Amino acid sequence: MSDGTVRGVEEGIVVEGIRHRYPGGNLALDGVDLAIGRGLFGLLGPNGAGKSTLMRIVCTLLVPSGGRVRVLGHDVVRERAAVRRLLGYLPQEFGAWRKLRVAEVLELLARLSGLHDPRVRRARIAEILERVGLAGVADRKVKALSGGMVRRLGVAQALVHDPEVIVVDEPTVGLDPEERIRFRQMMADLGEDRVILLSTHIVADLGSSCRDIAILDEGKVVFRGSPGELLESARGRVFEAVIPVDGEARLPAGVEVISRTPDGVGLRIRAVSGEGEMPPGAEPVPEPTLEEAYLAFMARRGRAHLAAAGVEA
Ligand SMILES: Nc1ncnc2c1ncn2[C@@H]1O[C@H](COP(=O)(O)OP(=O)(O)OP(=O)(O)O)[C@@H](O)[C@H]1O
Ligand SMILES: [Mg+2]
Repeated sequence: MSDGTVRGVEEGIVVEGIRHRYPGGNLALDGVDLAIGRGLFGLLGPNGAGKSTLMRIVCTLLVPSGGRVRVLGHDVVRERAAVRRLLGYLPQEFGAWRKLRVAEVLELLARLSGLHDPRVRRARIAEILERVGLAGVADRKVKALSGGMVRRLGVAQALVHDPEVIVVDEPTVGLDPEERIRFRQMMADLGEDRVILLSTHIVADLGSSCRDIAILDEGKVVFRGSPGELLESARGRVFEAVIPVDGEARLPAGVEVISRTPDGVGLRIRAVSGEGEMPPGAEPVPEPTLEEAYLAFMARRGRAHLAAAGVEA
């Protein structure tokens, strides 16, 4: 699985035995091995799982306490400059440079990413502004953009030097549904010939183009497989049932309710069951969503609440 023998990973991101302890003692990553090839790779996990920490290490912004990461064969600690040229990063919180204009931010960051030729740089900036739908506000100051526009500027700066490897941390937070669909399509297109590592709480954002998934929990990889394999692991653990309006408290332990709708005098619930236990009359859902499969997986780990807390849509 993670021994570097997966076909094509020498072209991708190889994470070996990564540990990271923040000053103050928090062990954020506890021995992570991952081989990430071309295509869209989804990184899931509850708040505090270590997703952003891992991404910062891959992007050369954080030196790990132990272990090794190579990006297209380059070591993220010893060959930092090479990795930065190859890689585009959208951090979870993007929003600095408030006093600069949109095009100026891209100009600055494109230079830092190694786009030295001014003509090439200008052409790329124009192209990327068009692509993310910000061409009309190129001269506007960042502080005058809407939240969604700032996110799109974040996407633009990650892509401006046309990187082969793209790392995006919670990319669709703050985007409206239409923009999210557009973003999903953009990632699907880009993933055709690039390596994309994308973390999200909105499992639906992985979309149908997602090739592989890892779930991090408390600094460890607890699942690594295809979306189909995650769905398979949830078989029989997602169900619908009609329960009394006040019946939720009496559900078997390990059952986590995903949605509730009034049904006659009762309540129709859709829920996941960590242990496979269900209330009387429950009907397993034949085709759970990937989101539900993720929640069922986490419920089985006794982490239902933490997982559900991250659900936004
Ligand atoms: N700068 C820091 N200093 C100390 N501890 C940190 C720092 N950043 C993160 N941590 C801790 O490291 C652990 C992993 O955090 P991280 O931000 O990587 O999680 P995450 O999976 O990205 O969470 P979220 O889904 O909330 O973004 C958490 O326990 C967090 O409190
Ligand atoms: Mg994070």
